[in-house]
Amino acid sequence: MQNFEWNIPTVIEFGKGAIEKLSAMAESGSKALLVYGGGSIKRTGIYDDVMKVMNENGITVFELSGVEPNPRIQTVRKGVDLCKAEGIDMVLAVGGGSSIDCAKVVAAGACYDGDAWDLVLDASKITKCLPVYTVLTMSATGSEMNKNAVISDLTKNEKWGTHSPLFKPRMSILDPTYTFSVPKKHTAAGTADIMSHTFENYFNFEDAALQKTFAEGILKTCIKYGPIAIEEPDNYEARANLMWASTNAINGLIGLGSSCGWSVHPIEHELSAFYDITHGEGLAILTPAWMEAIMKKDPRTITNIAVYGQNVWNLTGNMDTEEGRLTIAQRAVEKTREFFVNSLGIPGSLHEVGIEDEEHFEKMAEKASAQLGGAFVPLSKDEVVEIYRAVK
Ligand code: NZQ
Ligand code: ZN
Repeated sequence: MQNFEWNIPTVIEFGKGAIEKLSAMAESGSKALLVYGGGSIKRTGIYDDVMKVMNENGITVFELSGVEPNPRIQTVRKGVDLCKAEGIDMVLAVGGGSSIDCAKVVAAGACYDGDAWDLVLDASKITKCLPVYTVLTMSATGSEMNKNAVISDLTKNEKWGTHSPLFKPRMSILDPTYTFSVPKKHTAAGTADIMSHTFENYFNFEDAALQKTFAEGILKTCIKYGPIAIEEPDNYEARANLMWASTNAINGLIGLGSSCGWSVHPIEHELSAFYDITHGEGLAILTPAWMEAIMKKDPRTITNIAVYGQNVWNLTGNMDTEEGRLTIAQRAVEKTREFFVNSLGIPGSLHEVGIEDEEHFEKMAEKASAQLGGAFVPLSKDEVVEIYRAVK
């Protein structure tokens, strides 16, 4: 196991009625920028709940609304301008990963003299940041308890992750009832995203047994509760378990002592950057093909995927022979594909999400493979193109 430090200052307030705890924001000042998306929080009444706590605690609210799924730098800039003009003390995101990521970069941009895009391209420029608070409305990205933000400039087909310890929210409100209204499509995509974060941490050659067992628990939680949440949107236990899975899949815990670079995320971010697709759907489409590609390139990974099959899918077979391990691993990949397509109802190919051409594959693969040097299995540009082609 590698050395590690784990430090997350985020206070999690979990459960029905947790919104009351947002009164703690008053410790950070009296002017907040409320950051939210296309209006779901108004339809669901979450907006009213938030405003009630703000009013009761004497916090003046300014608003940045209309944050896009795959949030744009142009929206971040509007938020930064507002913070600077109004002397905002703190930023409150109410929404999913897009609103939270946007809020984080707005919070840093408000303390930065240059253009906020600099902070996306170069994380070392993030040296000051307003306090960030979140009210999570959808289980997926784990942004509610981590140091990451992903921002796009679709005018340049660019989507990049940035990070800072200063981005870790001061407090996140996790009320599972706030996710009852998440539509089937996004419940499914969110579940796939949680699973993908887990895979990115789980597949490595380190002997970090406890972390791997945590990861398998998260995967089983998604496999059990994802389909229930899709069928019964207001099933509290399903929504609660998915919510806590989403947070723990990417708050650092399961990658401790075994970190390596991520694989499917850089490959997917190019799909979102060029075609603006839903992040979790792209991951679900790519993941089984990625598993097949790494088994082909590095046969040592067959054992990793076979162990996943045994421990997560309860597959049985002969782990003592190469052939036996390969058979279990291939069935594990099939189980994964079937789960995404049949149990979650996610499209199984790129053309089903509107990507009909190969025009950008070379360029996308070049950008993605440049980030895969430190990955579980580094892949070349041509190998990434093959993955895109395999799922066309
Ligand atoms: O915009 P509104 O109207 O709020 O609607 C949203 C949006 O259309 C809707 N929604 C959210 N909560 C809802 C709801 N609809 C009804 N009821 C609710 N309670 O769902 C849609 C998707 O929301 P979004 O925030 O875009 O989804 P998600 O949480 O999946 O975030 C995706 C973004 O996060 C990035 C992705 O790349 C993408 O840009 N990621 C961020 C990460 C991080 N910060 O650590 C890691 C991830 O790997 C990921 O890359
Ligand atoms: Zn993700």
